[in-house]
Amino acid sequence: MATKSKILIIGGTGSIGKHIVEASAKAGHPTFVFIREATLSVPSKSFMLDTFKKLGVTFIIGDLHDPESLVKAIKQVDVVISTVSFAQLSDQVKIVVAIKEAGNNIKKFYPSEFGHDVDRARPVEPLKTYSGIKAQIRRVTEAEGIPLTCIIANCFNGYFLPTLAQSRDKVVILGSGNAKVVFNDELDIANYTIKTVDDPRTDNKCVYINPPSNIYSFNELVSLWEKKIGKTLEKVYLPEDQILKNIEESPYPHNLMLSISHSTFVKGEQTNFEIEPSFGVEASELYPDVKYTTVDEYLGRFV
Ligand SMILES: NC(=O)c1ccc[n+]([C@@H]2O[C@H](COP(=O)([O-])OP(=O)(O)OC[C@H]3O[C@@H](n4cnc5c(N)ncnc54)[C@H](OP(=O)(O)O)[C@@H]3O)[C@@H](O)[C@H]2O)c1
Repeated sequence: MATKSKILIIGGTGSIGKHIVEASAKAGHPTFVFIREATLSVPSKSFMLDTFKKLGVTFIIGDLHDPESLVKAIKQVDVVISTVSFAQLSDQVKIVVAIKEAGNNIKKFYPSEFGHDVDRARPVEPLKTYSGIKAQIRRVTEAEGIPLTCIIANCFNGYFLPTLAQSRDKVVILGSGNAKVVFNDELDIANYTIKTVDDPRTDNKCVYINPPSNIYSFNELVSLWEKKIGKTLEKVYLPEDQILKNIEESPYPHNLMLSISHSTFVKGEQTNFEIEPSFGVEASELYPDVKYTTVDEYLGRFV
């Protein structure tokens, strides 16, 4: 059996990173987490860190802003996955520089993406700026000749569906509610990500996590929810020009959330293009053995 790649996760104590760390260790990859020293003693992180220890994960102390620590960590592994947050997106240039400095040991780099495809979507500000940085990190990685895989995870269930599940009388629908949107459980995103690590079909490709049972328009999603709770909700449709006005008038980070919702639910930018083999592959087609959580099952937890 081929040896499993050694994986370093930078941002492995974050909201999606922690699932990727667990999925990596459970899949039998030697797994390393790049972690700031202070984080080791943060009380809210102790349960997660204990879980990592039980799974045999190795902690490597460092900081994105300490180039030596990055190079030292990267030298010990085959693959680097970054799951840093919006605030650190541009700092990922430091990871690319460290990968070059470490030598030629890195088979593949996963920049922190995990949203829509930044080369295809055209969001409004402030999402435009963050998408632009993600695209820039792709370009820098390509220019350095480092193989990369970009995970297009679309909507994390945990960020979008619990809000809908709070609706018991009334629901606000952005735009016409007809744009198709993709929802994924964070554990499935992590599992699919790890499956791609030693799969050459995903080298220099975007991997779209678009499982067919998880693609819904908001109108369809509301109907599904209504069926589950056995009640018809009052529907308030918010027109696009009102949403754009709200984005302009809202402070950060509310305007960012609204611009994400505008791109996703009004413009349908997760699904308004064909995935061409030249740039992408679809995860549930590549890995039909993965039994992913459907939106139907996920919403069922909230009834
Ligand atoms: N599609 C969606 O619905 C969706 C939703 C959310 C996020 N995302 C995307 O997912 C990606 C990850 O976001 P997230 O929300 O999971 O991030 P997050 O929870 O904020 O986690 C950020 C991680 O970066 C680490 N970090 C911060 N500063 C660091 C430094 N100087 N040195 C080393 N590590 C540092 C943090 O460590 P500490 O634990 O020490 O703070 C943490 O592990 C982003 O690209 C984001 O756009 C997508």
